[in-house]
Amino acid sequence: MHYSNTYLWALLLAVSCTHIARAQFPRACTTVEALVSKRCCPQLGSDPGNVCGILQGRGSCTSVVVDERPWSGPYTLRNVDDRERWPLKFYNATCRCTGNFSGYNCAECKFGWTGPNCDQRRPPVVRKNIHSLTPQERAQFLNALDLAKNTIHPDYVICTQHWLGLLGPNGTEPQVANTSIYDLFVWLHYYSVRDTLLGPGRPFKAIDLSHKGPAFVTWHRYHLLLLERDLQRLIGNDSFALPFWNFATGRNECDVCTDELFGAPRLDDPTLISAGSRFSNWEIVCNSLDDYNRRVTLCNGTSEGRLRRNPINRTGGRLPSMEDVQKCLSLREFDNPPYFTNSSSSFRNALEGFEEPDGELDSSVNSLHNLVHAFLNGTSALSHSAANDPIFVVLHAFTDAIFEEWMKRFDPSDTVWPQELAPIGHNRLFNMVPFFPPITNDQLFMPTEQLGYAYAVDLPASDPDSRAVAVVVASTVGGILIALLVLLVLLILFVHRRQRQGFEPLLNARYNSTKYTENA
Ligand SMILES: *[C@@H]1O[C@H](CO)[C@@H](O)[C@H](O)[C@H]1NC(C)=O
Ligand SMILES: *[C@@H]1O[C@H](CO)[C@@H](O)[C@H](O)[C@H]1NC(C)=O
Ligand SMILES: *[C@@H]1O[C@H](CO)[C@@H](O)[C@H](O)[C@H]1NC(C)=O
Ligand SMILES: *[C@@H]1O[C@H](CO)[C@@H](O)[C@H](O)[C@H]1NC(C)=O
Ligand SMILES: *[C@@H]1O[C@H](CO)[C@@H](O)[C@H](O)[C@H]1NC(C)=O
Ligand SMILES: *[C@@H]1O[C@H](CO)[C@@H](O)[C@H](O)[C@H]1NC(C)=O
Ligand SMILES: *[C@@H]1O[C@H](CO)[C@@H](O)[C@H](O)[C@H]1NC(C)=O
Ligand SMILES: *[C@@H]1O[C@H](CO)[C@@H](O)[C@H](O)[C@H]1NC(C)=O
Ligand SMILES: *[C@@H]1O[C@H](CO)[C@@H](O)[C@H](O)[C@H]1NC(C)=O
Repeated sequence: MHYSNTYLWALLLAVSCTHIARAQFPRACTTVEALVSKRCCPQLGSDPGNVCGILQGRGSCTSVVVDERPWSGPYTLRNVDDRERWPLKFYNATCRCTGNFSGYNCAECKFGWTGPNCDQRRPPVVRKNIHSLTPQERAQFLNALDLAKNTIHPDYVICTQHWLGLLGPNGTEPQVANTSIYDLFVWLHYYSVRDTLLGPGRPFKAIDLSHKGPAFVTWHRYHLLLLERDLQRLIGNDSFALPFWNFATGRNECDVCTDELFGAPRLDDPTLISAGSRFSNWEIVCNSLDDYNRRVTLCNGTSEGRLRRNPINRTGGRLPSMEDVQKCLSLREFDNPPYFTNSSSSFRNALEGFEEPDGELDSSVNSLHNLVHAFLNGTSALSHSAANDPIFVVLHAFTDAIFEEWMKRFDPSDTVWPQELAPIGHNRLFNMVPFFPPITNDQLFMPTEQLGYAYAVDLPASDPDSRAVAVVVASTVGGILIALLVLLVLLILFVHRRQRQGFEPLLNARYNSTKYTENA
C-alpha cells in the first residue's frame, strides 16, 4: 500500500518534523463530525461507499462492545474517567472486521496473517537476543528507532486535552496533534497509567490500566506488536523483529548501556547519555504528570528535556538473576484474587515484580520487571515516562518472552483469566486502553506463533526431571563454589586485617568480598 515509498516520505516528514503530538485515534476519525457522531468508520480506498471495506467483504460499521462486568481494586469512582468502558466516551461505532482482517478501516490483516485476503499464515518473525544480532541487524534496529523518533505517525494522532474539552473552546477545533511513531508509543503507555483528572490539582491516582493486574502481560505484548509493525512498515522490511534484552544477569551493571547499543553514561554527568550515542539527542515527552494534573490536561507530545538514566552505583542495585526467572516460571497459577499487587503465588505478579519471584508476598519486594525499571533509574523508573527510554522496548520484549515460555509450559485456557472483579482495565474482556480500534485482553492471551512472532531464547527447561537434575548439579556445583567462597572471604578478611590493622569495620570487608565474588 502507501508504504512502498515510505523511505522518501519518512525523510520528508522527518525534515519538516515540528514535534507536535497526535492522539491515539486515527486521524481520519478526529474530524468534528466523527467526534460529534461518535462514529469511526472510515472508508477503505477512494470509494466513499466502501465504509470499513464493506464492498470487499472485509468488515462493517457496528456498535462498540464493551465489558460491563464489575471491576474491583482501588479505583472506586464511576463515570469520571474517559478510560472507563473504553472507548465509549469517544466512539460508539467502529469498523468490525470479518475473518482475518483488522485495522480501523479493515485495511490490515490480524497479527499472524498475511496476503491480499489475509488468509495465509505469516511466517513468524524471530525476536533475538540483542547481544546476538549481527552488526547489520543491530544497525537496522537502532536506525529504525531513530527514524521512528523523527517520523510523524502516518495514521494516528493523540488527544491533547481532557475529553470534555476535546472539541476545543468553540466546539469546532478537535484538540489533537501529530506525533512521531516512537512518541505515539510513549504516549500510549503514559495514557494507560496516568491519573484521573477530577479538577485543577485534584488527580485520583489509584488507577492503572496496564500494570498491577493481569492485563500487564497482554497490554505490553500488544504495545510491542504495534511498534514492531510500525517499524516494519517504516523501513519496508516485513521480517524485521524487535530484539530482547536478557536482563536476568544478576549483575550490578547495565550491559546494554554502551554506545554500540543504547548509550553509555556521559562522563561529566552520568545521568545523561554519552555524545557517542544517537540517543543522547533523544528528547522525552509525557514526563510532567504533576503539571498535567494541575492544569487538568493531557500530555501534548512536546519535548520535555533529555533522557536520563543512572544504572550504576545504586545502593545495592542489582538486576534480577536467571534463578529469579526460573522461580517465576515455576508458578502454575496465572493470577490470583484480588488480581492486584498483593496477589500471591501469581505468575503475573511475580513477573511484574510485586512479589518474590517464587510467589511469596512481601510488600517491600521489587523484583523482575519492576526491579529492572528501578535499576535503570531516571526516565525508566517512572511508569508514565518509562517508554521514552528505548531500553523499554527490549526490556519488555524479554518480559514477554518469559510470559511466552510460561504459556508454552502450562498451556492455560482462557478461563484462568478472571472475567470480573479484576481492577479496572484488567478483566478478561475489557478493551485495552487506549488502543483503538478496541481489542480485548483475551485476544492477546495466546502463543506468540499465532500472533506472527517467536523468541530465539532458551529459558530454563520445563521438564521436571531435567529440572531435578539441574538442581542436583547446581547444588553440587553450588556447594563447591560456596566452599571456595568461604575460603576466599577468609583470605580477604585475613589480608584486610593485616593491612588495615582493624581500621576497617568488619562489615565493609565482607561487603567488598561479596562484590568481588559477584564479578567472578
Ligand atoms: C452513539 O453516540 C451518538 C452521539 O452521542 C448518539 O447520537 C447515538 O445514539 C449513539 N449510538 C448508540 C448506539 O449508542
Ligand atoms: C483466517 O484465515 C484462515 C485461512 O483462510 C481461516 O482458516 C481462519 O478461520 C481465519 N480466521 C478467522 C478468525 O476467520
Ligand atoms: C471561538 O469563538 C470566539 C467568538 O466567536 C472567537 O473569538 C475565537 O477566535 C474562537 N476561537 C477559536 C479557537 O476558534
Ligand atoms: C499532521 O500530519 C498530517 C500528515 O502528515 C498533515 O496532513 C497534517 O497537516 C498534520 N497536522 C498538523 C496539525 O500538523
Ligand atoms: C530484513 O530484515 C531481516 C531481519 O533483520 C534481515 O535479515 C534482512 O536482510 C532484511 N532485508 C532487507 C532487504 O533489508
Ligand atoms: C503542551 O505541553 C507543554 C508541557 O506540558 C506546555 O508547556 C504547552 O503549553 C502545551 N502546549 C499547548 C499548545 O497546550
Ligand atoms: C560509584 O561509587 C563509588 C563509591 O561510592 C565512586 O567512587 C564512583 O565514582 C561511583 N561511580 C560512578 C560512575 O558514579
Ligand atoms: C490488597 O490490596 C487492596 C488495596 O490496597 C486491599 O483493599 C485488599 O484488602 C488487599 N487484599 C489482600 C488479600 O491483601
Ligand atoms: C534513582 O536512584 C536514587 C538513588 O538510589 C533514588 O534516590 C531515586 O529515587 C531514584 N530515582 C527514581 C526516579 O527512582
